[in-house]
Amino acid sequence: MNDYRRNFLKNSAILLATAPLLSLNSAQAALYNGDDKNGGRVPDSFSSDEDFWRWIQTTYTVNPNILNLNNGGVSPQPKSVQDAFLHYYQLCNEGPAYYMWQVLDKGREGLRSRMVTLCGCSAEEITFNRNTTEALDIVIFGLQLQKGDEVVLTKQDYPNVMNAWKFREKRDGIKIVWIDLDLPNENEDDLVARYEAAFTSRTKIVNLTHIINWHGQIIPVRRIADKARARGIESMVDGAHTFAHLDYKISDLNCDYFGTSLHKWLCAPFGTGLLYVRKEKIKNLAPLFPNDNPDSEDIRKYEAQGTRNFASEQAIGTAISYHYGIGAKRKEQRLLKLKNYWASELMKNDRIQVKTSLKPQFACGLGLVSIEGMKPGELQSALMEKHKIFTTPIDYLKISGIRVTPHVYTSFEDLDRFIDAMNQIAKK
Ligand SMILES: Cc1ncc(COP(=O)(O)O)c(C=O)c1O
Repeated sequence: MNDYRRNFLKNSAILLATAPLLSLNSAQAALYNGDDKNGGRVPDSFSSDEDFWRWIQTTYTVNPNILNLNNGGVSPQPKSVQDAFLHYYQLCNEGPAYYMWQVLDKGREGLRSRMVTLCGCSAEEITFNRNTTEALDIVIFGLQLQKGDEVVLTKQDYPNVMNAWKFREKRDGIKIVWIDLDLPNENEDDLVARYEAAFTSRTKIVNLTHIINWHGQIIPVRRIADKARARGIESMVDGAHTFAHLDYKISDLNCDYFGTSLHKWLCAPFGTGLLYVRKEKIKNLAPLFPNDNPDSEDIRKYEAQGTRNFASEQAIGTAISYHYGIGAKRKEQRLLKLKNYWASELMKNDRIQVKTSLKPQFACGLGLVSIEGMKPGELQSALMEKHKIFTTPIDYLKISGIRVTPHVYTSFEDLDRFIDAMNQIAKK
């Protein structure tokens, strides 16, 4: 019996003995005491409070028989967010043109101000769209770059983002300066130095993926953005995997542009995203879908998207409430704890290689793992076909394995199921 199971059985006995005290109400109270206050308890103690996390599990509608360990691709929404979405969607169907344009379209300003506390920037720097790809494409295609201007990218950045830059290279003659990172890397100075070494007098912007999606490496974006700024170079952060996963504010990063998908770690409706543009950069960043004043300094110039999914957009507000309910720090610590649990258990098996750091400075909830002699696709199929465990295979450059991303509704028992399946497969 492993340590978790032993402790779990011990704690379950205590839980049963004190059942009236640790009822749903205490878990609910804990939820509503969330965010920074935590009811007087330090977030770390909450991150292992199993009755609280069990209650969180019941707020999702995930299929309990398929173990979804690919929440990094897109996350499910808690029931409250689904309900909000359905409510707004049905409202739209009561009279689309009226409810969409005259009611829900007006809700965006309230949503923008609610985002301020999560983002730590001014409401005048936040705009909503469909996803990270769209947010970052607005920046990539909106920048006024000339032939020969340089942009710094790594080969480990996200394909859609690399493709957009490559397109600009082909169409406009800008130059991409590529960095090839050896990851995982637990040396921050080295990571910063790799980016810095790529800067030249022609560098205009550096593309920074905050968490590299392939294996969960955290890039020290603040330090690199500071170095860039000191040389007059702009920075654009791909925050697809860090927003509402790590506890930080966009303003902590000192970047000029930031894009994220709200349907990942925030658990907002599918197809919701956010773009941050530093106030003084708005004027010169052209919109992808222009309104009547594309040179304006108003962030709303990026919102001439035409008819959109107003229901999804409005339900983002409920996802923010849910996130605050858990508490940003507590969520980050829980996600780290889940990853480090399965990763350290699997590290005990000589045939299994964990390819992600266990240190909070370098990784959090996402991890990459492989079994000796097995292709990522074979391992993914073995897990799915026999054990109904869903992961995603990664076979890209030197990166090979399955990516495993639990979420707040994942329990340690779920992870034990995954650990057992991996050990069984590794025996063959
Ligand atoms: C690092 C990174 N950037 C961007 C994206 C694109 O996200 P979306 O498909 O929501 O636009 C992803 C998707 O997984 C990602 O991992």
